[in-house]
Amino acid sequence: MNVIFCDTIPSDAYIYVIANHDISRANDYLQKICGDEYAKHISSLCSDIKYKEHKAFDVYLDGDAKKIIVIGAGEKNKVNRASIEKLGGAIYTAISDSCGNISKKHKECGVKIFVSSDIDHPNSYAYISSGISLKSYVFDKYKKEKAKFTISELHCKSENIDDDKCLYNKLGNICESVNFTRDLVNEPANVVFPQTIVDKVTTEFNQLGIKVQVLGRQQMKDLGMNALLGVAQGSSMEPYTLVCEYVTDESVDKIALVGKGVTFDSGGISIKPSNNMAEMKGDMAGSGVVLGAIRALAANKTKCNVIAAVGLVENMPSGTAQRPGDVVTAIDGTTIEVDNTDAEGRLVLADVISYVGKTYKPAVIIDVATLTGAIGVALGKEYAGLFSNDDDLCNRLCSASSETGEKIWRLPTHEAYAKDIKSNIADIKNVGSGNGGGSITAAKFLEHFVTKDTKWAHIDIAYTEWCTADLSLSQRGATGFGVRLLCELVEKNS
Ligand code: BES
Ligand code: MN
Ligand code: ZN
Repeated sequence: MNVIFCDTIPSDAYIYVIANHDISRANDYLQKICGDEYAKHISSLCSDIKYKEHKAFDVYLDGDAKKIIVIGAGEKNKVNRASIEKLGGAIYTAISDSCGNISKKHKECGVKIFVSSDIDHPNSYAYISSGISLKSYVFDKYKKEKAKFTISELHCKSENIDDDKCLYNKLGNICESVNFTRDLVNEPANVVFPQTIVDKVTTEFNQLGIKVQVLGRQQMKDLGMNALLGVAQGSSMEPYTLVCEYVTDESVDKIALVGKGVTFDSGGISIKPSNNMAEMKGDMAGSGVVLGAIRALAANKTKCNVIAAVGLVENMPSGTAQRPGDVVTAIDGTTIEVDNTDAEGRLVLADVISYVGKTYKPAVIIDVATLTGAIGVALGKEYAGLFSNDDDLCNRLCSASSETGEKIWRLPTHEAYAKDIKSNIADIKNVGSGNGGGSITAAKFLEHFVTKDTKWAHIDIAYTEWCTADLSLSQRGATGFGVRLLCELVEKNS
């Protein structure tokens, strides 16, 4: 989608969208687009329609030549970045609903759209465009019948053309990276597996100035990453740890982003029920998110000091698979009783968190993982779980979250929860007693591998990385939840 910020109303656009706080005041634009007479008629239709958030009306259909949609932008005093991006998503939905029977001509050439609004925000058009980009993503590469239509050109009537252009360049890179993450998560596990992620990242990231280091099985063995390797040992897929470095400013805090990259989680010998097991192709979403975030930061040349490290494995049952009851020694010497092979994410993350902590000594470690089904019991699909040893880091994450609209909620990590993962025969075990609080015991397990002087946060995205119904900024499937949040955090930090 080509986004053009302009100061005039193009006459050759097919769809005109007018977003207003008070729809009855769309008159000015209507007059310019369709002339006095129609404008009067339309505004009389609109007169009793007040602002209603994201409610859209087709007010003018000029055969095959022109459509006009008026959409409510919500209450004036509640406008912020997140709400404007959502408005962009609603605009996209209104356009695509209204174009159910769009003419062949327009479908083939893509639709040219003009957006104007009276939203009182200096960069509303850049954020509307970003919302439209995010919402318009579809994963249809395996379908013969492709998406209904594409927006070829989006024209926005802007008062701050240069500002909007500059901001949208950045937002556009972020959207692209969110879609990079969504692609990785949507792809099935026979296409996206450890090797293919390594190949994709090593070829694509070098061009962005990101240094990529690959640890293979032998190197991980030599390092003592036996917790991660134990998970991988039932699968025929080669496991990897990928470490990406993007450093443009050594003077700012080094932030390490660590992602769970289980490309398929069958549960292993503690096998999962077959219902919905297919969703476990998305168990690498955490790694997708941290890779997407560093990709966006590099594309935007953000001044920062960021490491993104991902542990890539497949968790399968087989004759070589790890058994419940096995004991493995993690890279930091901790012995772990593997009580349940389906609690594999924490085993992978334990080694990667330790490795990154020891090797790069970051001030901050943030791990992102589809770690527990229990987070869905606690928070449902709206909020991701946040766990941390540091109030200041939580505050920074929460303010980034309210900017981007990716909601996170902090849960406790009180030391009392740690006794749940005490083992009879090893230092710790990988599951709690099963008496509730499963997301917290998982977080306590991870915290064990973080040195006390490192600020650490863990974001459990098990129920937010994937949606079964459309959301305001994504359609069914992978959401890319977390990419924009991490970018925002790092950007504010720099
Ligand atoms: N990948 C799953 C968590 C998950 C569940 C992600 C549902 C997305 C949707 C994780 O590896 C897992 O299996 N966790 C177990 C832990 C249990 C064995 C302690 C779980 O949540 O059941
Ligand atoms: Mn599992
Ligand atoms: Zn898993």
